[in-house]
Amino acid sequence: AAVLAAMSIIATSASADPMGCDDGEIVVKFSHVTNTDRHPKGIAATLLAERVNAEMDGTMCMEVFPNSTLYNDDQVLEAMLQGDVQLAAPSLSKFETFTKQFRIFDLPFMFSNMEAVDAFQGSETGVAMMDSMQRRGLQGLGFWHNGLKQFSANVPLVSPTDAEGLKFRVQTSDVLVAQMEALGASPQPMAFSEVYGALQTGVVDGQENTWSNIYGQKFFEVQDGTTETNHGVLDYLVVASVDWLDSLDADTRDQFMTIFTEVTAERNAAVGEVDANNRQAVLDAGGVIRELTPEQRAEWVTAMQPVWAQFLEDVGQENIDAAQAINA
Ligand code: LMR
Repeated sequence: AAVLAAMSIIATSASADPMGCDDGEIVVKFSHVTNTDRHPKGIAATLLAERVNAEMDGTMCMEVFPNSTLYNDDQVLEAMLQGDVQLAAPSLSKFETFTKQFRIFDLPFMFSNMEAVDAFQGSETGVAMMDSMQRRGLQGLGFWHNGLKQFSANVPLVSPTDAEGLKFRVQTSDVLVAQMEALGASPQPMAFSEVYGALQTGVVDGQENTWSNIYGQKFFEVQDGTTETNHGVLDYLVVASVDWLDSLDADTRDQFMTIFTEVTAERNAAVGEVDANNRQAVLDAGGVIRELTPEQRAEWVTAMQPVWAQFLEDVGQENIDAAQAINA
């Protein structure tokens, strides 16, 4: 009974203050949209919170709200500017209303692999991109990796002509809309949390995402199969508001940023393994994966190549050249 009484006291105090923060601690809410289990963003966000809560106890208190439980990506940046959430990590495709610089990451077949993405983000150009939204009140803290995207649909996709006339869910990005139009498909921008239902009910026929998201959201269960195209990048920028960062005293900010930088390096280095594990998990769960021959893949490259010219002005030839030089 004593144990039960103690447990109910804990339960009561936990519901009164769900984050369990102590008085005087700086409360940090990190809102994101993916699952936490075996997902690159979920794992990194959880690790960040664990380290902050252990090493900055008494100063800072972080809670992660995954699975779109607090905000969708189309709401979270405004919520951040209102001070309702302190950290978020939307994919680079979701910053269109704040900056057009990240469009380079959405251009199909721009980067050959995640090592090239990492090198580009770490270059002077990539690092400067983290400051590109300061004027709008947002500061990038670091890029977090997810992986390369694959296409899935309710019919087999082998040739790009197989996508013609199908409806594909895309993230809210004009580049991704143009990419699907280049395939003769119909792009439907939609929040991540709605994709499984939309695939299941036939509101859309297909989607593009990484292995971690395809497994994490179980998209493969409601698709004919997934075609391993590796045609684009899905990566994140962890952001905070300029106002919130300015409100921290220098020591607190430095300690937080040291932990953040270490977590970023550790989890980005592990992303290849997480990606491969999720690909395997799709197979183990009975999902169909179609691999393309080099000739078949070249057809997809040709079909989507015109998209680069459409966004040349936003992205800059010099940045395309820099990305291509890293691939080589
Ligand atoms: C998506 O909307 O498909 C992704 O941006 C979700 C995510 O955060 O990985």
